[in-house]
Amino acid sequence: MKKKVFVAREVFQEVLDFLAPHFEVQANQEDKVLTAEELVGVLADKDGAMTTLTERIDENLLNRCPRLKAVCNIAVGYNNIDLAACSAHGVMATNTPGVLDDTTADFAWALILATARRLNEAEAYVRAGQWDKWKLKQFLGLDVHHAALGIIGLGRIGQVVARRAMGFEMEVLYYDVRQAAPEIESACRATYVPKEELFRKADIVTIHIPYSRETHHSIGAPEIALMKKSAILINAARGGVVDDAALVEALRTGAIAGAGLDVFEGEPAIHPGFRELRNVVLSPHIASSSEKTRFKMAMKAAENLVAALSSGNPPNLLNP
Ligand code: DGY
Repeated sequence: MKKKVFVAREVFQEVLDFLAPHFEVQANQEDKVLTAEELVGVLADKDGAMTTLTERIDENLLNRCPRLKAVCNIAVGYNNIDLAACSAHGVMATNTPGVLDDTTADFAWALILATARRLNEAEAYVRAGQWDKWKLKQFLGLDVHHAALGIIGLGRIGQVVARRAMGFEMEVLYYDVRQAAPEIESACRATYVPKEELFRKADIVTIHIPYSRETHHSIGAPEIALMKKSAILINAARGGVVDDAALVEALRTGAIAGAGLDVFEGEPAIHPGFRELRNVVLSPHIASSSEKTRFKMAMKAAENLVAALSSGNPPNLLNP
């Protein structure tokens, strides 16, 4: 008898076709976000699941879904999964590292350029029919070229962001909990500095760390207060890493010049203050969303699921 799996959110048909020979597949192609109770209801008789950051896999769910053996996230981040609880219940958890680094870094750059050059404000102005003459001091922005770029987290995505900075002839500073190996620093032409120094010196601060209890609000009022008045903050990593209320306040008072945000605390709800501000570029968690990359992410999760439930050895196991 085939094992039963649940695909928790809409995926590409090719991914379902790949799973079909291996499993009895139930797929949520209507893409409804399930409540915790609904998810328990569906997973109670399943051996495996493909999940996204909208499904919480926690102790309560695992207690009530004893058949579950594998949870394969369609994301590199996995803060929706309680890894310790999975290990305690003998459930394999996997993610999708490697396939989204370039695409996510590209989008961080899109936010950097759009925020620095005030593209959202300028676009809204033209669209609204307000453009009546050329002005020398119109939408004066921040130069990206030759600026100091501060990268919080020189992991896979942070490294790609750093390498892209060479084209803009920037000074690249980074902070991480651990200093990177010399060969990584030299490939990225990045200099390790203490966190406070990075916030003080950078013209552009871009965040590339995962969300965890340790990183919760690790960028808040004290860090933002160190930034230059002309500097901008970019977050294409995870909501909750930044204290959004503190950021709204800094943007409102002009303590920093702008922010480019793809992720938010409690998304898809966002702090209402962001909507009222013009000096913030907002997007709905789409940094990895290119056609090719989202396909690769879903396919990688499917491959992990097949490997987990056949060999017990999926390539991207998070809790060996
Ligand atoms: C990830 O992979 O963690 C992304 O945030 C999902 O788009």
